[in-house]
Amino acid sequence: MPKLSRRRLIAASVPALGGAAAALHSTVPHTHPWDAEAQAAETAHQHGAGAHAGHVGGHANFRDGRTVDHVANGFDPHEVLRDFDWGTTHRLASGRVVREWELVAVDKEIEVLPGVHFAAWTYNGRIPGPTLRCREGELLRITFVNASEHPHTIHFHGIHPSAMDGVDGLGAGEIQPTTRTVYEFEAQPAGLHLYHCHVRPLAQHLAKGLYGAFIVDPADGREDADEVVMVMNGFDTNFDRANEVYAANTIGFAYMDTPIMLCQGQRGILEWRFPQTGRFMFHAHQSEFTELGWQGFFEVVA
Ligand code: CU
Ligand code: CU
Repeated sequence: MPKLSRRRLIAASVPALGGAAAALHSTVPHTHPWDAEAQAAETAHQHGAGAHAGHVGGHANFRDGRTVDHVANGFDPHEVLRDFDWGTTHRLASGRVVREWELVAVDKEIEVLPGVHFAAWTYNGRIPGPTLRCREGELLRITFVNASEHPHTIHFHGIHPSAMDGVDGLGAGEIQPTTRTVYEFEAQPAGLHLYHCHVRPLAQHLAKGLYGAFIVDPADGREDADEVVMVMNGFDTNFDRANEVYAANTIGFAYMDTPIMLCQGQRGILEWRFPQTGRFMFHAHQSEFTELGWQGFFEVVA
């Protein structure tokens, strides 16, 4: 039998736990010596020390152990996750809540991958901008200061008067450098929205980093939960009209740095209920481990 690459072996052996050799023959009908050689060459290329596109632990990895300087960036994507900005509030005589924020547009260089810097435009020095959170029916007041070298706006998604839409030709229109405006409108409807600059060229003003999440909770609140916000984004770091970096909350691979895996000496207790009977798979959530054996089933019976 010709030698098989490890990848092909894995692919062939997944459904058959017994009689592996027979299974290989029946599931890989076109394995010829030249085919196996091509596979071996490809495998060597992928895993060879020289051609290091970077696959560590089953995940793409360009970091070589280096990390982004979150302090220099002024924000950390791990904190951005749960960093809900509720602003400041006061009540009108009527009892209605007024919720206020100040957002400042600032031009700022941000390291989006270790050693890869991006000339960004930001709200409050971070990408995504602050996650603005409020309750349905409140009166929202957002003071927008343009400390950037370019005109900008804040265009909120949701429902509001057209003069508060943050687009050219309506209300205050484009906010010129060194000037400011105040957007004021009722928080509605409840839901997960976003805000972004709406100055043309739109692709540039968004791609540069002027966007953020805007959450309107229902008036009667939400059930307690560990809530996290991830804004998917991408960066064209060399301005060739193609993104070089894709991320959640701006920093590529950021959530690979955190210990979400169970390492030597660490322990964890998992508790859960099965509401239904049947076979349920469990596996290490690293594809390489799973493919090499870290996988099994719970057989749940009534
Ligand atoms: Cu802009
Ligand atoms: Cu929009």
